[in-house]
Amino acid sequence: MSEAPAGAPFGLLAELTYRCPLACAYCSNPLNLADYTDELGTSEWRRVLTEAADLGVLQCHLSGGEPLLRRDLPEIVRHASELGMYTNLVTSALGLSRRAAERLREAGLDHVQVSIQADDPALSDRIAGTPSFRRKVEAMHLVRELGWPLTVNVVLHRQNIDRVGAVLALAEEVGADRVELANTQYYGWAWRNRDALLPGRDQLERAEQVVRAARERLRERMDVLYVVPDYYSRYPKPCMGGWASRQLTITPTGDALPCPAAQSLPLPRASVRDAGLEQIWRDAPVMRAFRGTGWMPDPCRECDRREVDFGGCRCQAFQLTGDAARTDPVCHLSPDHGLVTEAVRAAQGPVHLDLIPRPHRS
Ligand code: SF4
Ligand code: FES
Repeated sequence: MSEAPAGAPFGLLAELTYRCPLACAYCSNPLNLADYTDELGTSEWRRVLTEAADLGVLQCHLSGGEPLLRRDLPEIVRHASELGMYTNLVTSALGLSRRAAERLREAGLDHVQVSIQADDPALSDRIAGTPSFRRKVEAMHLVRELGWPLTVNVVLHRQNIDRVGAVLALAEEVGADRVELANTQYYGWAWRNRDALLPGRDQLERAEQVVRAARERLRERMDVLYVVPDYYSRYPKPCMGGWASRQLTITPTGDALPCPAAQSLPLPRASVRDAGLEQIWRDAPVMRAFRGTGWMPDPCRECDRREVDFGGCRCQAFQLTGDAARTDPVCHLSPDHGLVTEAVRAAQGPVHLDLIPRPHRS
């Protein structure tokens, strides 16, 4: 099988900074945060965005860490907007004052996604490692008042999944257009907390019933997105729609990656400080490593689903087996599937582990 040619990327995740006022125990940012202090400057981001637009990128997700910590955020938004991209701010909402919000609106920001940790102030603040709940709720009301579409994103795990009904009620109360109930992905700091975060099967079954009923009830008013957690699926997720196929990530210091977690993989770095984005996207070894199906091992190589899920997630394969080129162990056909069933088995009893908050870096 030959290597697939590079198509055009559709979405760019611009990780403007890993600095963050929160310290979430499920954070998937890298652990070595001190290595990411030499952030790209405003003119570098402008160039990257221009090159991304030339490549065909249509959606720009401004993320972090907390992107509001970048003073030049309005300028970056304005540039992306002038290039014709749809701009989405992915934020904890801490720092989204009325003045900051009005400047972003004036710069052309199209959409805001606010993360919340739970519906209950004490639980939310404990998971976030910072008092933040009240300010998030105020900011979500502000987003709606200023006329932006609002997505509420909640990372679900063992410690908050039983409250999914109340979380949906909160999203409804603040007037969200869409709720993303995202089960934790075990990369970065979340991997360290995995055994305290992985829900039990009974928790999932209860949550799924609540979500089904809410979807029915809210059909006309709010989109409710819910994806079964990987570890409980027979097949893996089609991560990023395939490696270096539709999505592209730029880290705060300028590394270009096929996905945000790929910086943990032992692949050669490609920096926008050293080369143009088009060349990186097309030719850099980090992009070519798992593009298409030519790299696949058995059992993916002969599997009917190889163009459906692309062998799953390379970062998860690496995290669990130490080899990014193996079939994602989430797949029940993977020879390493026992690594997942063992973690799931351990999650069925009572687990009383404290969450370890991510260290602060702001
Ligand atoms: Fe997907 Fe590979 Fe599993 Fe087939 S064997 S379902 S391609 S992960
Ligand atoms: Fe990197 Fe899935 S998160 S390939």
